[in-house]
Amino acid sequence: MWLTIAVCIVTGGLLHGAHGEFDGKKLKMAILKDYQRGVRPVANHTHTTPLKMGMDFRQIIDLDEKHQILSSNVWMRKYWKDEALTWDPDEYNGMKYINLPSTEIWLPDVVLTNSAGKNHDQPQNNVIISYNGEVTWLVTRMYFSACYINTYFFPFDEQNCTLTFASWTHSGFEIDLIQEPEPPSKSYYVNNDEWKLIDIYVRRDVVYYECCPEPYPEVTYTIRIQRRALFYVTNLLAPCCLLSFLVIFGFYLPSDSGERVGLGITILLSYSVFLLMVSEWMPPTSRTVPLIVVYYSVTMLLVTLATAMTIAVLNIHHCAAHTTPVPHVIRFLVLRLLARLVCMNSVSSHWEEEHHHPWNIERTINMFTMNTLDNGHGTDTESVAKNKSKPPGNSPGENGLYASLLMSMREIHKEIRTINARFQRTDIQTGIEDEWKKVAKVIDRFLMLLFAVATCLTSVCLFSQVPHFNL
Ligand SMILES: *[C@@H]1O[C@H](CO)[C@@H](O)[C@H](O)[C@H]1NC(C)=O
Ligand SMILES: *[C@@H]1O[C@H](CO)[C@@H](O)[C@H](O)[C@H]1NC(C)=O
Repeated sequence: MWLTIAVCIVTGGLLHGAHGEFDGKKLKMAILKDYQRGVRPVANHTHTTPLKMGMDFRQIIDLDEKHQILSSNVWMRKYWKDEALTWDPDEYNGMKYINLPSTEIWLPDVVLTNSAGKNHDQPQNNVIISYNGEVTWLVTRMYFSACYINTYFFPFDEQNCTLTFASWTHSGFEIDLIQEPEPPSKSYYVNNDEWKLIDIYVRRDVVYYECCPEPYPEVTYTIRIQRRALFYVTNLLAPCCLLSFLVIFGFYLPSDSGERVGLGITILLSYSVFLLMVSEWMPPTSRTVPLIVVYYSVTMLLVTLATAMTIAVLNIHHCAAHTTPVPHVIRFLVLRLLARLVCMNSVSSHWEEEHHHPWNIERTINMFTMNTLDNGHGTDTESVAKNKSKPPGNSPGENGLYASLLMSMREIHKEIRTINARFQRTDIQTGIEDEWKKVAKVIDRFLMLLFAVATCLTSVCLFSQVPHFNL
């Protein structure tokens, strides 16, 4: 806008003077004849030169978190009065303005004091000089400024970056730096994909240095920006949440599958990869630990614990059976209380019945065999009575048959007892094993719920601190 106005004015001036001599050339030679561009152009050295500054924030080119440098493109405006550059427009065909290269005249040495790069060379844009000595200097340039970056809330962070301008050698008595009445405008701002510009504030401070009694005014522009977090949410946080679910569901994996510890360790490795990616973006500072790093660390701790617990559960599942039956305390605590707590009532109601099962079988077989043998032997009163009522047929053949049958039955009984004893032992062993497996299963389910709650709590606790979610 300013450039356009300036161009119109100057073109008008040039066209106006096109009939006669070169007005511009005449004027330039006249005003720069004895001009000394190295000294501040004031008639009386006690006069101050008021320097008005304005800024349009144009673009955030990059914010380098690691080196804490903001690269930005800004349009600066500077207005001051040059007492040596005045003329009477009537003498120059009414020419009121002239555009001259900035290298020809005195320029205020205003610099970016929080510079973090090569900013000290003055740009070579033209200046617009008015006949009463008012100079307008419009500059577009790129600044590299130091910006303290607080990564605590990364990637939901907000940063305040400042651009501070001051005269490097002139005190406030010589150059009085002020901000133009209009606040810095955002109308020419070009959107950045990563950062959203929230606001720009301007502040004028007067600084007193230890060396000198003079005031040193400075103008500070604060650029408040918010990170657009969608990229980081999809690339860093979402996979992490999914992995957390895997950890929880890892407890659901059957102990016999033999994959459980491997799963835990794989997840742990994936987390390390994400942690590496995050630390690549961060400045290597120990001032604050970013929330996301805390989140990763806590989650990794949980995964490690989960893997350790899995190993313990596997130990219970596979090895404990060879040692002892389930102690009563554990049976009560785990199969009764814990099982009810995690809603595995089927386990808590079954265990007693299953435990007595082998004994019942044995008793049944014993009863059955004894009864049969007793019947065969004929000691039963009813059978004796029947025998007596029958005609006495005490044939020796029948007796011999009974005797051999009895003997066979006794043999069979013995065999059955042995087999039964073996089955019984196996049954008891299997019962104990099953019981340990059930203990393992209940603990697994309990841990699954525990880790689900822990993971959710961690996420909620950490991310509830974030002040805003700007996606
Ligand atoms: C310079 O300005 C000061 C204060 O404004 C004044 O006292 C002094 O007389 C001026 N000097 C000249 C030579 O005009
Ligand atoms: C940035 O500055 C604004 C206004 O002064 C303030 O409200 C905000 O908390 C600051 N943000 C950070 C991250 O310091």
